[in-house]
Amino acid sequence: MNFFQNLALKYSHNMMEKSLRQGFNVELLKTPKKKVPQDGKQYMLYMHIPFCHTFCPYCSFHKYYYNENLAKSYFENLRNEIQIIKDQGFDFTSLYVGGGTTLINEEELLKTLELCKKLFSIKEISCESDPNHIKAEKLTLFKGLIDRLSCGIQSFDNDILKKISRYNKFGSSEELQEKISKALGILPIFSIDLIFNFPGQTKDQLLNDLQIAKNLAPQQITTYPLMKSNLTKDNIAKSLGVSFKDNEFEFYQIIREYLKSYTQNNSWSFSLEKNSLNDEYVSSHHEYLGIGSGAFSFLEGELLINAFNLNDYARLIKEERNANIAKAYFNKKEIIKYVFLTEIFAGKIEINKFNKTLNCNLEKDLFVELLGLKLSKAIYKENDSFYSTDFGKYLFVVLMKDFYTGMDLVRAVFRDDKRLKNKNFIDVMKENVDPLNSIDMEFKSGQ
Ligand SMILES: C[S@@+](CC[C@H](N)C(=O)[O-])C[C@H]1O[C@@H](n2cnc3c(N)ncnc32)[C@H](O)[C@@H]1O
Ligand code: SF4
Repeated sequence: MNFFQNLALKYSHNMMEKSLRQGFNVELLKTPKKKVPQDGKQYMLYMHIPFCHTFCPYCSFHKYYYNENLAKSYFENLRNEIQIIKDQGFDFTSLYVGGGTTLINEEELLKTLELCKKLFSIKEISCESDPNHIKAEKLTLFKGLIDRLSCGIQSFDNDILKKISRYNKFGSSEELQEKISKALGILPIFSIDLIFNFPGQTKDQLLNDLQIAKNLAPQQITTYPLMKSNLTKDNIAKSLGVSFKDNEFEFYQIIREYLKSYTQNNSWSFSLEKNSLNDEYVSSHHEYLGIGSGAFSFLEGELLINAFNLNDYARLIKEERNANIAKAYFNKKEIIKYVFLTEIFAGKIEINKFNKTLNCNLEKDLFVELLGLKLSKAIYKENDSFYSTDFGKYLFVVLMKDFYTGMDLVRAVFRDDKRLKNKNFIDVMKENVDPLNSIDMEFKSGQ
């Protein structure tokens, strides 16, 4: 990385922090906002399944410890919420089910996916699982329903698996490889999630992870840089230690070089063959509707946040309402920047199409930002499109990581019900939060 690229990285990171701060103009809602579809717009449906049997130290996704009765009534509420949005006139062609562990109760998930297929024009469904829910006889139940299943592996190194408390829960490297080879070929796309840049991870450990993943030959491999936020940094330090050298850039280059025979779907996802289904629903659809506890919707420049607390969520659905309890506004420029990031993350932006969709003039509206990206050689323009360069791909990994880390802030505040009682969100934020720079936040996982 040269001096200008280093500068571009720091500048973009600071701009992202600023945008996230401004974006966090969150207003708590007295009554949920009714969602209304707009003519001619395509939306994606996101569904959240907030249950895991055990928790991993690096993970800040919204989740509760699994309990069968709790999960059954949650799925029932979810199906009621699906009916509510159907009655509001929404339709979708694409569904992303995220968690937690979405296959944790296969029977309930099956009923819920079947309902989605019945009510909407869904053509593709993507789900996430841990390695304990990918047995062939269970996956077979989802043939013709799930098109892409991503399975969290994180690493094939037994030392790392032990440190992140997954060795005993999900199996050794050898057991994981066996589970994956038996699961392959049942559903159209099987994706392996790996994490890189764990504190203390060596280049050899990374190369070994990549070699094993490649030998297994899943249709996709996704390599996330380790993301640390206020919610997870202490647990990460306790389980993995603290590293004094950051290998993220070097390791990212190694990954791209190692997987160069794969097609790069976006900055961190690689496919054996090009396909539209990947891990980043935000980069494939500008507007999405989130259902379930703790789900976000991004509609008409507003981020709507569903109730995190399962009782609140159940109560709102029983009242036959939408389950959102707060919203955040974004001004037009913030929306353009957000959509720009999510699209360039996938490698290419068609300028005319972008301008038409957002009713903007990209090159004028983001003149300074684009100039910086061009000067640092993060993007280049060709035939009315912007493309990300090798350096750009890394820069956009860093910015996407910043974006997700920023989202942890929202999760932190909304998970902790006590903070929100008798106070407004802005006060809670002011008291506790300096978004991306670490300030201790009390967080009790599992509630
Ligand atoms: C929502 S999780 C669900 C996966 C599934 N429950 C499991 O653990 O196998 C989806 C993926 O996000 C990635 N992930 C979670 N926390 C992360 C973090 N702090 N940094 C980087 N990637 C993370 C992991 O690769 C994980 O498999
Ligand atoms: S990584 Fe997966 S299993 Fe672990 S806590 Fe997160 S969602 Fe649950």
